[in-house]
Amino acid sequence: MSQDSIAAANVAGASSSATGRGLWSSRWMFFLAATGSAVGLGNIWKFPYITGENGGGAFVLVYLACILVIGIPLLMTEVMIGRRGRANPEGAIATLAKRAGASRHWRKLGTMAVLTGFLILSFYSVVAGWALAYAPAAAMGSFAGLDGESSGALFGAMLGDPWKLIGYGTLVLLLTLGIVGLGVREGLERSLRFMMPGLFVLLLVLVGYATTTGHFGEAVHFLFAADFSKLSAQSVLVALGHAFFTLSLASGAMMVYGSYLPAGTSIARTSLMVALADTGVALLAGLAIFPLVFANGLEPGAGPGLIFVTLPIAFGQMPFGQLVGGLFFIMLAIAALTSAISLSEPTIAWLSEKFAIGRLKAVLLSGITLWLLSLGTVLSFNLWSEFTLFGKTFFDSLDYLTTNLMMPLGGLGTVLFTGWALSRTTVQEALGINHPQLFKLWWLVLRWLTPLGILVVFLHTLGLFG
Ligand code: PHE
Repeated sequence: MSQDSIAAANVAGASSSATGRGLWSSRWMFFLAATGSAVGLGNIWKFPYITGENGGGAFVLVYLACILVIGIPLLMTEVMIGRRGRANPEGAIATLAKRAGASRHWRKLGTMAVLTGFLILSFYSVVAGWALAYAPAAAMGSFAGLDGESSGALFGAMLGDPWKLIGYGTLVLLLTLGIVGLGVREGLERSLRFMMPGLFVLLLVLVGYATTTGHFGEAVHFLFAADFSKLSAQSVLVALGHAFFTLSLASGAMMVYGSYLPAGTSIARTSLMVALADTGVALLAGLAIFPLVFANGLEPGAGPGLIFVTLPIAFGQMPFGQLVGGLFFIMLAIAALTSAISLSEPTIAWLSEKFAIGRLKAVLLSGITLWLLSLGTVLSFNLWSEFTLFGKTFFDSLDYLTTNLMMPLGGLGTVLFTGWALSRTTVQEALGINHPQLFKLWWLVLRWLTPLGILVVFLHTLGLFG
């Protein structure tokens, strides 16, 4: 079926089963899936280390402001576009633009979102592979007696071994695409039903353990006591970029998940719950990690190595370190897997709907291209580490291109499309914010504050000011 005939079928109000698409079985399933997408390496790996690097509490406050002003309005917008359009991101935007009499070029925003998710998955799968590699290592006691140097060497040895990275990255892709290949109900729902509760239980167990270290208060202070002198302009930008990444925005994920959302669910309320859960997990991850860091006299601002170099030292010298370490990396792997699933779904939906090919064919096609592209990331840690583009390795370039360029640009386009190309009544109806004053405020934020906020980050990333 071509894009236009899908659009026509949707305009005619045909049920989604007429277009061969699935639906979440409930609002609760959508919440689990969207939260699974949002909660990932971004929360457990990235948030604690960027908070550590940017001095703690003040950074957390700025990050929360970004979630509120940019993240939440954009999240609601994306879910709404998906549900109204009932198609992959490109098809959904095309449908809405057509109905509103707006330019058909808006659909390119959807195409770019699909591409962004695809590119992110090519490196996300490699990093998720590290968690898969570290889980058995932790459980089997490989961290016993590690110090800063030997822990760094252990991590370095893994990065230096392309076969190991390819092996674990391939495993992540196989698991992800295997689940996605089974479809929305049989694949996504069935796996999320046990992975998400498992993730939360593990997180709570780990936070519980952290309270026994005697350094919990120190971690609370570090995360919540705001010292603005430690905050730089750069930190504000890091916080903004992270708001996009952690809520899975501008990558097609939330749009495509929204396209499977049953009618009648309040998008505003559900999105708010997803954002709350995501932020809650990031903070809890900090509360699970920093007490261990402080209890073992380690450095909170160690950067990307916080989880893979600093924490193993703590696991190696703590009581029950093998068990806790194993559980920690299993939790990280689950969080990464549920995000990887959502990163692949936009591409699968786009390929199968736009080119009218079966889901399995779409999975195979994207799997092969993803795998080939992931080799670039793998090699950038070893054989190609000297090979740089604008001073960045292949992995760093892809990360920069997607997180710092494509996400802000796509997010900006999406809020402009919703705030300025769609009509106010369409949006109000679709969102389900019934309170007129509340909607008025939301509409104002979406049309002005959100785009201006994104624009400032974006221009700054391009180095246009300061
Ligand atoms: N939100 C995920 C995380 O925090 C990453 C992600 C980005 C997932 C974009 C889907 C889409 O790890």
